[in-house]
Amino acid sequence: MRHDTDVLLNEERVFKPGQEIIDVLHVKDWESEIEKGKDIEKYWAEKAEQFVWFKKWDKVLDDSNEPFYKWFVNGKINMAYNAVDRWITTDKRNQVAVLYVNERGHEKKLTYYELYREVNKFANALKNLGVKKGDVVSTYLPMCPELMVVLLACTKIGAIHSVVYSGLSVGAFVERINDCNAKILITADGTFRRGKIIDLKRVSDEAMLQCPTVETVVVVKHTGIPIEMSELSGREIFYETLIEGEPAELEAEEMDAEDPLFILYTSGSTGKPKGVLHTTAGYMVGVATTLNNVFNIHDGDLWWCTGDIGWITGHSFLLYGPLLLGTTTLVYEGAPDYPNPGAWWSVVEKYGVTKLYTAPTAIRHLMRFGSKYPNLYNLSSLKILGTVGEPINPEAWMWFYKNVGKEKCPIMDTWWQTETGMHMISPLPIAPLKPGSATMALPGIDADVVDDEGNPVPVGKGGLLVIKKPWPAMFRTLYNDEEKFINTYWKEVPGCVYTAGDIARKDEDGYFWIQGRSDDVLKIAGHRIGTSEVESAFVSHPAVVEAAVIGKSDPIKGEVIKAFVILKEGYQLKTQLIEDLSRHVRYELGPVAVLGQITQVDSLPKTRSGKIMRRVLRARDRGEDVGDISTLEE
Ligand code: WTA
Repeated sequence: MRHDTDVLLNEERVFKPGQEIIDVLHVKDWESEIEKGKDIEKYWAEKAEQFVWFKKWDKVLDDSNEPFYKWFVNGKINMAYNAVDRWITTDKRNQVAVLYVNERGHEKKLTYYELYREVNKFANALKNLGVKKGDVVSTYLPMCPELMVVLLACTKIGAIHSVVYSGLSVGAFVERINDCNAKILITADGTFRRGKIIDLKRVSDEAMLQCPTVETVVVVKHTGIPIEMSELSGREIFYETLIEGEPAELEAEEMDAEDPLFILYTSGSTGKPKGVLHTTAGYMVGVATTLNNVFNIHDGDLWWCTGDIGWITGHSFLLYGPLLLGTTTLVYEGAPDYPNPGAWWSVVEKYGVTKLYTAPTAIRHLMRFGSKYPNLYNLSSLKILGTVGEPINPEAWMWFYKNVGKEKCPIMDTWWQTETGMHMISPLPIAPLKPGSATMALPGIDADVVDDEGNPVPVGKGGLLVIKKPWPAMFRTLYNDEEKFINTYWKEVPGCVYTAGDIARKDEDGYFWIQGRSDDVLKIAGHRIGTSEVESAFVSHPAVVEAAVIGKSDPIKGEVIKAFVILKEGYQLKTQLIEDLSRHVRYELGPVAVLGQITQVDSLPKTRSGKIMRRVLRARDRGEDVGDISTLEE
């Protein structure tokens, strides 16, 4: 465990919001909102009242079978109904719901009413394909309006969606589809990235050869590049053909509060990706409430979350959260620095973005080009900024604050996870901010930093980040792996306490400073990559006998992969093989797996039971003391 890290950073700057921000806040009294949140059942029940329920819940929280909590017991509700249908009888009917923009400057707008019709058409089409409540529908799509339509259509009929991030390649893709037995796949011809078009259909074709449960592949013509419909025909159909003539009306399925909403795979410390399962009502309540609290959403806002819908950030805060609050959500397809490093700022200026939610890795990347680019554009529409994905370095925070927010936009550094579904530790805009700190647990959340016995650690000391009370948007289990759900998250410290797998400390004001993962998970450009997934990819190459990987710090990506490999006899780690291995790992896992360095070794440090001691590799690599190695073999 790495939780006894020393505190090297002593950040003492504090920033408070200006009066023009304070004047329009929903929550002006932070402390008393946190106080109110201590009665979790009362707090979350009040928040749940904002939705349209087919039938109200009997009980807010059922904690009789920890850690299998249930929220809003026996309530009946539908996600798509609350995110879309309910707005079409209000003033928002003709308001833009989805504003799609891409790096080529093309745009597409869907009002709430148009979105409603598109969702219904696709939902009807899914029904015609035989999709029923509880079936799994997967997507391998770029950031495009159709992806949003498809996901909402699933929730409208009670199908469970499972999005595969379009940056993953064949190996990772196949594994995810097969684990959840997806019945339908929706993909596209390609995606725009840095002036090129990336051929998604080819990846999908290759994956589909290994995915026997998929009965139909629906293809969106998104980029217009020529593609071949597959030989396995009968199984493939174009999106447009499929929805042709479908009615634009459909009753929403009455879902139980605890019915599954989606599965999203994320990396853990063991090889297999974890299927994080979220359910309907609690997720809805948690996501909408935290978005509203943290970003103070109002009529007239233009919300832009730069995260991909392939990750939880996009699920919760690009798609569902903003639509549940009836705001306009901007979906951007492309790289932040194409056609030039002012690309994002030009979008902010052109459309008048008011709230911008992004990742520290993107900020560090854009920082490299200096203040010139943000200064070329009028960014005065911005009111609140936000970050997620990894700790933000105070330097990057200051750059963002000065150059993008012009020292008038508070920055919400939001800590949360795929598993938590919603923001957990984050300031509200009223809070005094310290660059690099995610501030405090949100109202309704009980977070702490503890030692291995579960005792709170003294101020300034590192410890395990835990959540001590259930929260509505919590994941309910790991799909097909209840045992791992219990053992990974609920067993590390005594009592029924959720351990996040992160190391943190608290300062004298009770502010949380997240220091990174305690387990073998890498954070590359904010993406979670399991070390063992990368190792498996290496070992699947014919030249490699064994591999161990650790994170190597990187000024832009946060971390990149450093690999130690044992090669088969007769192989030498020369340029050709290095290139080959990089290509192979990219092929297996996709471009998210960024390789920094490969080293050839004769042996790897292991415990007597054969587990690779990555901790030892890490310490050696950094020239640090390797610590207790009594369990080391030999
Ligand atoms: C890290 C992303 C510090 C953390 C929503 C967590 C952060 C993991 C922050 C979850 C933050 C996320 N400060 N670290 N503001 N936000 N993390 O599941 O290590 O992709 O456990 O969810 O990201 O990553 P995931």
